[in-house]
Amino acid sequence: MKKILVILGPNLNMVGIREKSIYGAENADTINEDILTFARDAGFDCDIYQSNHEGELIDKIHSTLGNYDGVVLNAGALTHYSYALRDAIAAVEQVPFVEVHMSNVHKREEFRHKSVISEVCRGVICGFGKDSYRLGIQALKGMI
Ligand code: DQA
Repeated sequence: MKKILVILGPNLNMVGIREKSIYGAENADTINEDILTFARDAGFDCDIYQSNHEGELIDKIHSTLGNYDGVVLNAGALTHYSYALRDAIAAVEQVPFVEVHMSNVHKREEFRHKSVISEVCRGVICGFGKDSYRLGIQALKGMI
């Protein structure tokens, strides 16, 4: 069975509490349950990892090499400025990454329009709330 990892970056543990008009009222735990159910139904063995710390996220990205067949990554605000995260993804280039955002970042503040990680990801999905994760998993399904 193919193994995938969903990585969630800073503040994504606060979904359901933070900026509900943007991220919705559903909390992170139930969204994660949904992700795991969807992944299992898609035939994947799936883990979810969330951290608010850039270095921990980098360590986790490195650890995907040889351990996971693909990754769905919502890097939160790090998406827009973390060259360290970008380089970590590039370092494990054999592992396909799909960049995901719950909100449509292009309809929001200008600083969110730029992603420094898109270039090292296979594709980008944004704007579909928690369904963005499902779409990310579906994208991996077509790849691995
Ligand atoms: C986000 C968008 C980012 O700009 C923001 O910093 C987040 C969440 C999203 O899922 O829409 O934390 O990645």
